[in-house]
Amino acid sequence: MCKKSGRNPYFCIQQSQIAMTVKEKIDQLRAELHRHNYNYYVLNAPEISDKEFDDKMRELQDLEKEHPEYQDENSPTMRVGSDINKNFTQVVHKYPMLSLGNTYSESEVTDFYDRVKKALNEDFEICCELKYDGTSISLTYEDGKLLRAVTRGDGEKGDDVTDNVKTIRSIPLVLHGDYPQLFEIRGEILMPWVVFEELNREKEAREEALFANPRNAASGTLKLQNSSVVASRKLDAYLYYLLGEELPCDGHYENLQKAAGWGFKISDHMKKAHSLEEIFEYIRYWDTERKNLPVATDGIVLKVNSMRQQKNLGFTAKSPRWAIAYKFQAERALTRLNVITYRVGRTGAVTPVANLDPVQLSGTIVKRASLHNADIIEGLDLHIGDMVYVEKGGEIIPKITGVDKDARGMLIGEKVKFITRCPECGSKLIRYEGEAAHYCPNETACPPQIKGKIEHFISRKAMNIDGLGPETVDMFYRLELIKNTADLYQLKADDIKNLDRMGEKSAENIIKGIEASREVPFERVLFALGISFVGETVAKKIAKSFNTIEELEEADLEKLISIDEIGEKIAQSILAYFSNPSNRELIERLKVAGLQLYRKEEDLSGYTDKLAGQSIVISGVFAHHSRDEYKELIEKNSGKNVGSISAKTSFILAGDNMGPSKLEKAQKLGIKIMSEDEFLTLIS
Ligand code: IVH
Repeated sequence: MCKKSGRNPYFCIQQSQIAMTVKEKIDQLRAELHRHNYNYYVLNAPEISDKEFDDKMRELQDLEKEHPEYQDENSPTMRVGSDINKNFTQVVHKYPMLSLGNTYSESEVTDFYDRVKKALNEDFEICCELKYDGTSISLTYEDGKLLRAVTRGDGEKGDDVTDNVKTIRSIPLVLHGDYPQLFEIRGEILMPWVVFEELNREKEAREEALFANPRNAASGTLKLQNSSVVASRKLDAYLYYLLGEELPCDGHYENLQKAAGWGFKISDHMKKAHSLEEIFEYIRYWDTERKNLPVATDGIVLKVNSMRQQKNLGFTAKSPRWAIAYKFQAERALTRLNVITYRVGRTGAVTPVANLDPVQLSGTIVKRASLHNADIIEGLDLHIGDMVYVEKGGEIIPKITGVDKDARGMLIGEKVKFITRCPECGSKLIRYEGEAAHYCPNETACPPQIKGKIEHFISRKAMNIDGLGPETVDMFYRLELIKNTADLYQLKADDIKNLDRMGEKSAENIIKGIEASREVPFERVLFALGISFVGETVAKKIAKSFNTIEELEEADLEKLISIDEIGEKIAQSILAYFSNPSNRELIERLKVAGLQLYRKEEDLSGYTDKLAGQSIVISGVFAHHSRDEYKELIEKNSGKNVGSISAKTSFILAGDNMGPSKLEKAQKLGIKIMSEDEFLTLIS
């Protein structure tokens, strides 16, 4: 008998032979996929079609699923990310992540050059590089494998974002060639312009706040909790600084060329300069040429090339003496301020907008600029008719950065004063303590706020009313067919079928969609009401704690804050909502319309307290349910799904392929590992 399998030895040999071939196949697919990934994302020279790549990836995924014993943290399949939520662990940097001293003029660059020359008193080379405008990252590789990726944080310690970084295709998970056994490489994670613009277009369509620039988009994405969303954001990375005890060369430039050979994406635009004139030539060239790059840059970095000389020069407390950044001037234009208009958002926040004489700036014509809030207007001391400086910098929305006060002469215009009444409904504006924005408090009768509320009500995660979108809502509102959400339930196909771009079919679909929304469960109706701070999760908690909307209406502060996850801020917002008679009236009408403003018995089926007070980590691949379904099952049974293992974790719900580092941590902390079947029995 074979000791391991309990089967006869012949069968056991057969099994291990099959296993060998599977392992070989897995290794071969991994090697191929790493190579094709490098060809595509680093060299920009794919050798196979996307379809062939996807087929190979799928084949590997299937094999890994069937054979969890061969799981590998750096397999190309790790690039797709996972939907586990995690809180990032903080990691102390082995070498602190310092920043660079900034310069803004050629004379400051000359000062830097002269300082270096004097201190070294020997020949030296300066490596000129682009200053990429993204978010910095430190990658550690051991034995040719990506071990860890950590953000800059406060320079001393940063967040471990390894899972998210693994989804960035231009960052190699395994290296090739003659790399050092252990080293760190630092660089910049970037969101290419095209991806950034597309993402903002999508956000605009969903009426979400836009990212101001690709830098914010990249750093925001890197900190997302869900790595599969990170994977979809198509981030890129350039590496520019190699650190370690056993680097191949003395030259920084030469080391990076070696790193390119190991699989890293290194900029093609580095150049060694031997004189100040060569440095200025590089700066002047890239000041204009950078506009043709696929990613954002905000300057040039100059580094003494020899690592020996770098060591001699050393560091100040904040930055190296051997390097400096030269920042490009943000493009700016001078134009006339004609008038200030004000926009009211769906939350009631009022944003001032400067209307300008059209002016050419960074390839587009600018007619408007955001002024953000009253403090900014005051700080600029703006007067109507002023000649103002408009800048784009890395931002997509231009801003006013200064006033040419000399141009005022005798004809100084009226000083800009922030409005005191809402431009849409005339209500007196309010400013909450500690907030920069002014708000219109008239949430039930101010048109942009009403339309915003209706759009939220019909959205997918709320009432999910098919066929209705912001434009249709706007048209219905303008035609006075609807003034609030309850009016939707009185619409008839005959009322709308003859409207612009409508027709019988679309009209019927809208009415059917509205009809169907009567079946939407209590928790989503609560979310759809649009009470401030009552998001999806809070709405679920409320729906579990109150049988009917009447019970919620009658709840006092104490009762509300006794509910898990409801704090004072949310509770106050709920109380304020129900203290408004128009909201109560609206709810009465929604009740009459037949909406689920109460909990049905079946809404509660499957809800228990079996996991009350337990923090559960989900890890691995499951056979019976998806991760999302397990997350829901945990929540339905009053447990809490958490992202990372800590001493507070109650148990780990483990499928196949649980990561070895997680396993090790769980064992170290003595945390129970529960199989899928055990878990299902526990909650059954
Ligand atoms: S070298 C010790 N090189 O600029 C200095 N930094 O303030 C190591 N950056 O945090 C940094 N492009 O995020 C270096 N070619 C480049 C860079 C670069 C962008 C960023 C980096 C750093 C900041 C410096």
